[in-house]
Amino acid sequence: DTSFSAHVRNHFTSYELDRQAKSADTLYATSNGVPMPHPYEAQRVGENGPLLLQDFHLIDLISHFDRERIPERVVHSKGSGAHGFFECTNPIPELSLADMFSTKGKKCPITIRFSTVGGESGSHDCARDPRGFSVKFRTDDGNFDLVANNTPVFFLRDPAKFPHFIHTQKRDPATHLTHADDSTMFWDYLCSNPESIHQVMILFGDRGIPDGYRHMHGYFGHTLKFVNKDGDWQYIQIHLKSQQGIKFITQEESQTKSADYAQKDLYEAIQRGEFPKWSFEVQTMTAKQAEEAWEQDKINVFDLTHVWPQSKYPLKKIGELTLNENAVNYFAEIEQIAFNPSHMPPGIEPSADPVLQSRLFSYPDAHRHRIGANYQQLPVNAPKTAFKFGNFQRDGNMAFYNQGSRPAYLSSIDPIKFRTRTVDIGKTHGYFTGEAITFLSEIRTEDFNAPRNLWQKVFDDAARDRFISNVAGKMEMCREKEIIKRQIAIFREVDNEIAERLEKATGIKGYDGIANMKFNGTHNGMTKDESL
Ligand code: HEM
Repeated sequence: DTSFSAHVRNHFTSYELDRQAKSADTLYATSNGVPMPHPYEAQRVGENGPLLLQDFHLIDLISHFDRERIPERVVHSKGSGAHGFFECTNPIPELSLADMFSTKGKKCPITIRFSTVGGESGSHDCARDPRGFSVKFRTDDGNFDLVANNTPVFFLRDPAKFPHFIHTQKRDPATHLTHADDSTMFWDYLCSNPESIHQVMILFGDRGIPDGYRHMHGYFGHTLKFVNKDGDWQYIQIHLKSQQGIKFITQEESQTKSADYAQKDLYEAIQRGEFPKWSFEVQTMTAKQAEEAWEQDKINVFDLTHVWPQSKYPLKKIGELTLNENAVNYFAEIEQIAFNPSHMPPGIEPSADPVLQSRLFSYPDAHRHRIGANYQQLPVNAPKTAFKFGNFQRDGNMAFYNQGSRPAYLSSIDPIKFRTRTVDIGKTHGYFTGEAITFLSEIRTEDFNAPRNLWQKVFDDAARDRFISNVAGKMEMCREKEIIKRQIAIFREVDNEIAERLEKATGIKGYDGIANMKFNGTHNGMTKDESL
């Protein structure tokens, strides 16, 4: 059969054939399929002459090699991942119409990628840094990407600060050093943006260096919405709880580990058949409760630097995640995976959290740059829907699937099918805005409550000692005394004892408190009386 259809059937049927590639049944050939006697056969003029332009084999080899690297992720560049499945254990049709939560025992395939945040793609797995925890759920109703971290809060609540913050985690433009050698930028950002303190307390506490990726929880941090089939909705927070338990490693231990410690730990555990698991749990709040949380406890559900107390908003388990399959090709299945917080199936919706709103835009924008316009066509990113889907996106680089001869416009003579909306869109989009913070950088007394609780109630004496030593060690590499004085003042708002112990360790006297301090572009809501 010489038809083009037959050719496509034979050669491009499935990525699975590529995954099963074995040298024993592969004949060496150039990229256009012409067999070559041997890979080491450069064509040369005579014994000592120059090479020939006609030597396609060599040019094919070297020019492809020249293009092997794609840009690494601008953040979370170093990572590890694996495949597995999600299983619904406790269906919640009353809360969400999402198909993946509809029936007990319902499963969908997942791929998870874990990462550190600031380092480059070859950097150390045991850095003191938050860990990324991204899950792609391939549900019957399209992909749901949960792009989470291992901490429930973040350094900021104003998305405009994100590039500034990240630049202080990367290399200095002049010295080209990272904060491992010169922590000036690192502390300069934090001492100028005190809403980061909750995350800073967690970062320098024991959970700042998790023991690999299997022994940590995941948190989306942002408030999302669950919407049920009647259009009723609630705010939710998603937690992924490690069934392996929590383990951390100390600063000292981290120096003794290999750079790929977490990669090795995850890969080898799965190869041994020890499949790591996490439970999928949610906290819920009605719009009314969210208003009360603001009025009574000053908890703004759109503020990423705060958590919802579990005593008041208990966790409810919905399902379980299991990782049971390693990637066979890291680049194709983990490096090229593209997670996007705006991938949400019906039943899950974004909240008005400004940082989340910015992320909804940022990720697919990054993917188009990092991978290309047709990144959704790659096997690891492609949705696995229960129906055949299509749209009017066409062409672009590497358009492997281009939707055949189907009209590339909304045609009246060959119409596409639609699923009608069951939910009243007006109802689901009317939401509580809870005096959402207009000045996102305003510092309030309540910003210090959770960090204080960590220091006073969660950490024990030994954890407090390690915390002081971790922070003081990092401060030693800061070139500016003024920065340390400011950061100590921020720690003093958490607890005077932290400030005094850091003053002793660094020999630098910090400011008394933050009431009289000015922060970049902020409206400092704290008065002298409120400052400790
Ligand atoms: C990766 C932007 C905040 C978790 C990324 C990437 C970008 C980005 C551009 C690289 C995407 C890629 O090339 O594939 C932002 C912006 C933020 C923000 C603009 C705030 C305004 C956050 C927060 C979290 C988070 C709050 C956690 C709750 C992650 C994770 C990855 C990532 C886990 C790695 C995804 C992967 O494994 O491929 N972010 N981010 N980010 N971000 Fe964010």
